[in-house]
Amino acid sequence: MKPIEWLGDRLKLLDQTELPHKEKYLETSDYRQVISAIKQLKVRGAPAIGVATAYGIALAGLEIKAGNKTLYIKHLEAVLKQFAAARPTAVNLFFAIDRMRQAIKGKNTVASIREALVKAAVAVHREEDRAMAALSKHGAALIEDGFTVLTHCNTGQLATGVRYGTALGVIKAAAEQGKSISVYADETRPLLQGSRLTAWELSRLHIPFTIITDNMAGYFLSQHKIDCVIVGADRIAANGDTANKIGTYSLAVLARENHFPFYIAAPTSSIDISIKSGASIPIEQRSPQEVLKLQGIAIAPAGANAANPAFDVTPAKYIAAIVTEKGILRPPFKTSIQSILQEAR
Ligand code: MRU
Repeated sequence: MKPIEWLGDRLKLLDQTELPHKEKYLETSDYRQVISAIKQLKVRGAPAIGVATAYGIALAGLEIKAGNKTLYIKHLEAVLKQFAAARPTAVNLFFAIDRMRQAIKGKNTVASIREALVKAAVAVHREEDRAMAALSKHGAALIEDGFTVLTHCNTGQLATGVRYGTALGVIKAAAEQGKSISVYADETRPLLQGSRLTAWELSRLHIPFTIITDNMAGYFLSQHKIDCVIVGADRIAANGDTANKIGTYSLAVLARENHFPFYIAAPTSSIDISIKSGASIPIEQRSPQEVLKLQGIAIAPAGANAANPAFDVTPAKYIAAIVTEKGILRPPFKTSIQSILQEAR
């Protein structure tokens, strides 16, 4: 499966809003369509958003017509601003924008900038591929043969755009090692990334799974049907506080209450060292319509109000380990994150 593919002068994206019913691809050379795809969650999941952003900027770089470097950079900066406004929480988007800015430093001609942007986007994609494969292998050590794992949202290939996911990558790697694993997948309201996307990926991987509604997790944890909880991250603060799909925080508290480990799996591109704690992580507020309607059908009285924060923050104290491509970080995360980021990214 290739959820994100660079075709030299255009980008091919698997439209995740159509899954699991249709495998429909969007092929475009227009960066504006990439921004729309990110906003509409056609491409979603923190690492995949980062990769799509890098390619989207490369597309803009190929499109911008300007006779001189100054004018070209002015246009490019306006495009970077549009990408930065697409979704606020996943730091991978901002990481990708920074990487693209770095890549063109010292380039003197428009032609060399264009070339550098394409090269950098391909490099971001390759690096995430390597990171996710390493992270999945490290994390598999936490999953014992016979484990039942609870997960939330979608953190597989769809969410990363590469061969392995984050939390689902760990599960896939453990299964590839011959361990017998089964999964409880939260359906993940309001947009059903769990039942639509995680279930679709797990079926393809032939890993047995059971879909539960989000409010069933406490029941199954209290019944000791689950051995550990593993989820991804959209942004991890310097102290380990982690923003992830709404509902993650409740899972972490429930896991602690029932004495099961709660793990985060995320590449270092999801760590935001500039943010001291989770309190400063911007939380995306999405349209109430996503709550009031299910797959386009109204499920509430006309005129009802709804709130729709897309993410919540799990305090570091609930997290037993953060699995990264550089290894497994343990508390205190302030120290373990700092030391891992000191190694070259
Ligand atoms: O709103 P989404 O679907 O982009 O949210 C995705 C998540 O919350 C994932 O758990 C997170 O990005 C980690 S995925 C590798």
